[in-house]
Amino acid sequence: MLLKIGIDLGTANTTIYIPGKGIVLTEPTVVAVDELTNKILAVGKEAKEMIGKTPSDIKIYRPLKEGVIADYKATLAILKYFLSKIKISRFLKPLLVISVPAGITSTERKAVIDAALEAGAREVYPIREPLLAALGADLPINSSSGHMIVNIGGGTTEIAVISLGGIVVWESIKIAGDKFDESIKEYLRRKFNLAVGEKTAENIKIQVGSATVTKNNNELSMNINGINILTGLPVTVKITSNHIAESLQKDLREIVSGIKKVLANTPPELVADIMEKGIVLSGGGALLRNLDVLIYEHTGVPTYIADDPLFCVARGTGKIMEKLDLYRRILLSHK
Ligand SMILES: Nc1ncnc2c1ncn2[C@@H]1O[C@H](COP(=O)(O)OP(=O)(O)OP(=O)(O)O)[C@@H](O)[C@H]1O
Ligand SMILES: [Mg+2]
Repeated sequence: MLLKIGIDLGTANTTIYIPGKGIVLTEPTVVAVDELTNKILAVGKEAKEMIGKTPSDIKIYRPLKEGVIADYKATLAILKYFLSKIKISRFLKPLLVISVPAGITSTERKAVIDAALEAGAREVYPIREPLLAALGADLPINSSSGHMIVNIGGGTTEIAVISLGGIVVWESIKIAGDKFDESIKEYLRRKFNLAVGEKTAENIKIQVGSATVTKNNNELSMNINGINILTGLPVTVKITSNHIAESLQKDLREIVSGIKKVLANTPPELVADIMEKGIVLSGGGALLRNLDVLIYEHTGVPTYIADDPLFCVARGTGKIMEKLDLYRRILLSHK
């Protein structure tokens, strides 16, 4: 029987799904390379652990930028490594369903197909991420009613209205989890003269981050160790969720404008469906506290977070592989 594998090849994380088994691997899309020998030192979790801690001759690469392959060789190395890690021999020649951004160009798409074939696939089906996210969030995408999915990943936020198995209106914004981390870093530098690394910024976002400011006194907080950029000395600063909400305000405003723009461009019949069924959030960024509340407040449309938002896209590849016949149109339109 033909082996089928689904891959969510994301800017931040790569997740692999095998029908009948479910999610078999999820690791950061990161690779560490020794610049002197050009050898790969670590891939995935192990490589991410090294961020901000490496000597100058070790370089950490995140080979995807905004959802597309920016470094072909490093992406190929990652794909090969992950496939070998789940014990897929390249002689098995699987069929691969792989996520790509909605706005992918034909050259970028070709790079994904080439990398997958070179990593050992027999056939490759690149499918647009919002469709996979919607499927993974259990939205009935083949029905004639309209659904809005907002997938907030590491590199991009993709907002799409889906009906009858296709994307009707969409918008892609280069503001997502990575940019949030960057904004938190900048804010801490500005407000507290505090310098922190990328990994600490991400950790703060996950531990105490919030999309909205709370007025009562039950906000979350944590102590952060960093360097005071004025004195050069180590300091500890108490960071609260309100600080994070403030630091993310501009980024979140842009995501909300993107959603409004898509709503404005959606045919009225489908808007009525969306009003009724709500907006569904997926991707790791959907886990930012109160993001659903913020979107509801600014759009008036009820907003829900999908179950296990980090894995919607991978689960979507699973649904496609399990029911190839039902989704043949999506596959063909992407071949
Ligand atoms: N609990 C959390 N709160 C806020 N953000 C989170 C949380 N958990 C993960 N994230 C963020 O989610 C992002 C990764 O999400 P995801 O894995 O969906 O992205 P991706 O698919 O790799 O990227 P893209 O789709 O843009 O190519 C990271 O920026 C990460 O910091
Ligand atoms: Mg993604």
